[in-house]
Amino acid sequence: MRILLLAHCFNSLTQRLYCELTERGHQVSIEFDISDSVTEEAVALFRPALIIAPFLKRAIPASIWTNHRCLILHPGIVGDRGPAALDWAIQSGRSTWGVTVLQAEAEMDAGPVWAAATFPLRIARKSSIYRNEVTEAGVQALLLAVDRVAQPDFVPERVPGQAHGVMKQADRAIDWLRDSSASILARLNAADGQPGVADSLFGQPCHLFDAWPEGQLKGAPGSLLGRRETAVLRATADGALWLGHALRAGGFKLPLTGAFPEALALPELPLVDWWKSATPTWQDIAYEEAGGVGFLSFEFYNGAMSTTQCRRLSEAFRWATARPTRVIVLRGGSDFWSNGIHLNTIEAADSPADESWANINAIDDLAEAILCCATQLTVAAIGGNAGAGGCFLARAADFVWVRDGVMLNPHYKNMGNLYGSEFWSYLLPPRVGLAGAAAILRHRLPMTAAEAVRLGFYDACLPGPGFAVDVARRAAELAAAGDLPERLAAKRQQRAADEARKPLATYRAEELQEMRRNFYGFDPSYHVARYHFVARTPHSWTPRHLARHRDLDWKIPA
Ligand code: COA
Repeated sequence: MRILLLAHCFNSLTQRLYCELTERGHQVSIEFDISDSVTEEAVALFRPALIIAPFLKRAIPASIWTNHRCLILHPGIVGDRGPAALDWAIQSGRSTWGVTVLQAEAEMDAGPVWAAATFPLRIARKSSIYRNEVTEAGVQALLLAVDRVAQPDFVPERVPGQAHGVMKQADRAIDWLRDSSASILARLNAADGQPGVADSLFGQPCHLFDAWPEGQLKGAPGSLLGRRETAVLRATADGALWLGHALRAGGFKLPLTGAFPEALALPELPLVDWWKSATPTWQDIAYEEAGGVGFLSFEFYNGAMSTTQCRRLSEAFRWATARPTRVIVLRGGSDFWSNGIHLNTIEAADSPADESWANINAIDDLAEAILCCATQLTVAAIGGNAGAGGCFLARAADFVWVRDGVMLNPHYKNMGNLYGSEFWSYLLPPRVGLAGAAAILRHRLPMTAAEAVRLGFYDACLPGPGFAVDVARRAAELAAAGDLPERLAAKRQQRAADEARKPLATYRAEELQEMRRNFYGFDPSYHVARYHFVARTPHSWTPRHLARHRDLDWKIPA
């Protein structure tokens, strides 16, 4: 089927749908929802049999839905109508939620239902529910709807519904003196990653994001109790919550101490070591051990790794290598494994070029520490999405195991033609060949976990449910294997032979020479792209590699 995806942007759900439909042999093209006339033009060029809107922020024009079948993914259960469906569900503490595939009509979300699915609603951020449960259920429901479109006897059902309004900041407001930690957490979760909750800190208005529960510390409700790294602890009526990120008027989202440098003067509340705390608290890097395996998690907001975070993670990794373990599993965070260098902290720096340089060197140091680890076998267990440098950083481990359903974006070029580093020029060719490495970097499209394994880029694609348990079992088997000493010896030998052939320092210098040009050179593309990414500038056109119908040689197949 010829299918046009009409979307606000190419977000992870749209990426996943694109991959799944393409894998099933459908001919798919994408147009961003820029204006009615642009959509009309795309439809006229592509002449799709079906239009799917997996992620839209405004209604499809009547000129389109009256003449073409348009299916919309609504992130709500059957009968739910209106904007901010997930926000309302999370804030009101629903225990189950779902998605509905509706046919577009004049009244929003009121068209006949083509497919639907439900899921238990975890206590988690909206962005996390969206990237996991909504994406999984939404893609399955959309694929079912596409099958049903091809069945001439399937008749979508009309169901009565109830519309809720927009969720205003007044609906989200927090009363720090009277509200419990659970109710404030629900409000902050319902607004994360966008739009955040309007509040104030240090007498200044701001939007708050990235809340973490605290299990022990308390204080006078509303007061700021202290700081750990970049997060601040604020007391509630019955406990306290950590706040990780804030956005100030006219700015962009930053780690809290970046948005409010005055927070650095708060009393420090450090953790004593890297071991995972027994009670809930803010801990972005956490270590656990079981059966000869060390597990290192790094729960960095949005998978972005700043210079300081890379340095702290390198320190934690080196500490983990000194433990009496045989395998180290790098678990990343629950929603993202890594998205590479931290574009927001770079944008906020006095010299973004200098900060980009420091950040890429810090992430390269981490990659080097992982790939030079001589005392343990290392595994990157990718349970959440990964992009750009994060995809290549994972490859520094001896094994990369990835969860089925994860979306990978192993390319740098979309960020203003970045050349990329993280030793990709050393790590990729032995696995995928020189041409394969060039193809991966040139290909600006997302990749599924299964495809990454098919290409030889990663080593195993493990089923979604039970991924963490599966990883722990496989890692324990590796640790218990009788031939582990031989495997470690072979790894050391291979590294020494590679080093003799061409030192790691040379690969790094070659990559960084190109990156230096990206950061300091005449062409400002990277700085411009980063600015627009961080400022969330709406798209004004659809990139040609997505809008296939706009190729000059595009012809509708006979
Ligand atoms: N630095 C800072 N923030 C980042 C980031 C990075 N490297 N990568 C992602 N984010 C943030 C986004 O700004 C967004 O923030 P929000 O919470 O305010 O919405 C959030 O993470 C989710 O990103 P989004 O683009 O909405 O997710 P996605 O799943 O649709 O797309 C990527 C994932 C990886 C394709 C996309 O985020 C991306 O291109 N990131 C930049 C990667 C990069 O170029 N890194 C630098 C080179 S190593």
